[in-house]
Amino acid sequence: MLWHKTLQIILAFHIIFVVTWFAGLFYLPRLFVYHAEASEPVVRERLKVMERKLMIMTHIGGVLAVLFGLALTGWWMAHQPAYLLAGGWFHAKLALVVLLIGYHVWLWRLKNRFARDACDWSSRRLRWFNEIPSILLVLIVLLVVVKPF
Ligand code: HEM
Repeated sequence: MLWHKTLQIILAFHIIFVVTWFAGLFYLPRLFVYHAEASEPVVRERLKVMERKLMIMTHIGGVLAVLFGLALTGWWMAHQPAYLLAGGWFHAKLALVVLLIGYHVWLWRLKNRFARDACDWSSRRLRWFNEIPSILLVLIVLLVVVKPF
């Protein structure tokens, strides 16, 4: 019973930090769109500060979401490994999470390029780039909730 409550609390924090992480994954590329379209130095400098701060929050959300996800994985592997290993849904989820982490690193590198005034991406390209986390979010949540395979 106590274990069950502990698992639920870990799951709750996993979801809380996934939400925090996605706030940054959704909004950082939006800031990049404004940044690519801004020409006034004051606006560009203000956007750099916003991007730097939001990147820090995104790192924290991502690291903690992954840590709580690993804690959940550890719990299931210790108590009922078949839950995660029987179907393919969990492996598929992990593969998509690897892509999500790749997207996060890509955002980080773009943030550093904008900080050096060295990013030449058009705002149109950035708008397309902004769609990637939405697609990954839909696929991952469908996989963990529906467990289709
Ligand atoms: C390395 C990263 C991750 C690991 C190891 C991990 C692992 C897990 C595990 C073991 C569960 C428990 C499964 C269950 O109770 O059904 C879980 C639940 C969940 N995960 Fe993750 N996860 C990770 C990242 C993510 C990400 C990036 C998202 C969202 C985009 C996500 C969304 C969810 C949701 C919504 C649940 C709740 C499912 C439910 O209770 O029905 N996870 N995760």
